Amino acid sequence: MIILGIETSCDETALALIETRGPDFECRVIDSLIHSQADLHSAYGGVFPALAKREHGKMLVPLLMKLLADFPGHANNSQTTSTLDTFRTDLQAQNPELLESIEANLSFFEKIPQIDRIAVTEGPGLEPALWVGIIFSRILGALWNVPIIPVNHMEGHIVGSLLDSDKPTRAWQKLKPVHMPALAFLISGGHTELVKITGNVIVQAPNASGSQPAQRLTHQKVPAPDQLHYQIIGQTRDDAVGEAFDKAARLLGLSYPGGPHLSRLAQQAREENISSTVKLPRPMIKSDDLSFSFSGLKTAVLYAIRAEPQPLTESFKKGLAREFEDAVKDTLTAKLRSAIELIGAKTVIIGGGVSANTLLRTSFQAIADEYDIPLYLPSHHISGDNALMIALAGALDANAHAKNGRIDRPLKAHGTKRLGV
Ligand code: KG4
Ligand code: ZN
Repeated sequence: MIILGIETSCDETALALIETRGPDFECRVIDSLIHSQADLHSAYGGVFPALAKREHGKMLVPLLMKLLADFPGHANNSQTTSTLDTFRTDLQAQNPELLESIEANLSFFEKIPQIDRIAVTEGPGLEPALWVGIIFSRILGALWNVPIIPVNHMEGHIVGSLLDSDKPTRAWQKLKPVHMPALAFLISGGHTELVKITGNVIVQAPNASGSQPAQRLTHQKVPAPDQLHYQIIGQTRDDAVGEAFDKAARLLGLSYPGGPHLSRLAQQAREENISSTVKLPRPMIKSDDLSFSFSGLKTAVLYAIRAEPQPLTESFKKGLAREFEDAVKDTLTAKLRSAIELIGAKTVIIGGGVSANTLLRTSFQAIADEYDIPLYLPSHHISGDNALMIALAGALDANAHAKNGRIDRPLKAHGTKRLGV
């Protein structure tokens, strides 16, 4: 089965193609394309929804043409114009850019590619941005007569981390084995969530790695998102961790998205042995629940900067960046430990853009080693938003429902969609 993934929940326009086969759910990546709008939004210090929507409208068609350039097509569609007519009024009102770029390339849309399913992000995310991917998937679904699978973006981040990053594109692979109960830690620009995953389905690999002996894997099925149960057991009360990184970075004069820039400064501080002159709080580290709060940390950065003679010295900035990253690390690792112990986690899965952070990756790995459980991190090229994870989540869903044929669900942008409800 070949699945096209479409992701437009925020400021990345992304498309990917994957192929799956067999009862053991082998999969391979055919291609994955990401167009980042970060430069466009940096002037606004954050993502500007109307701009994101327009840019998705402009980029989806050229990206799809690139993705399918060498992909086999068959049968010509003589209904292209009449099919498009059913979407025309909506498109004209909501996203003339997308309509324009489809009409400019009508001959491309006359060819039907050999694609079996379309998986699209339905939420959470910015609704105007989500809408573009959804309408595009509906147009393609109608043109190609292909079912559409709506995907939860956060579930995408979870299953994306189960891909083996070392495998070259087009190499067949099985997903990494997951032992239940599993714990997902989702850390992104919009989310900071600890998610308990249960279910009687385990991703089975022939030589299960990690600490669990193979005979304890009682079920030999592939994971099926709808058969898995997600329960959010901890979340932020205010800012998400990526948002905190971006806000602190902005206060330090770094451009959006500031997380990676701040992290680089912090790394330089470590290499140059620069420590911070101020101590930042470790928010909620001692609370006996799994809640997070990052707005106070950002305010503490603001006050530390205000108390300093201006302009700030490079050394002060580096030291403060290091202290900030350490404060985030201390908080996240304390909560990760508590969550592992609370649910008796047998696997930990990290997902979301902040998982690109080197200090956090190493710290999470050290904790998993301590508890002797496998830890799965997304490879760097899919730690941020991408469509590969969306295609994969859609493929798992299609696989789960192949038997009862329930593959097509109603489509709507769900800006605040949550896992497990
Ligand atoms: O998952 P993602 O790409 O988009 C959302 O769904 O939010 O996450 C983006 C977030 C941004 O806040 C960005 O600053 C942060 O991930 N980020 C990082 C790093 N790389 C990306 N934060 C800290 N350190 C990094 N290396
Ligand atoms: Zn994301």
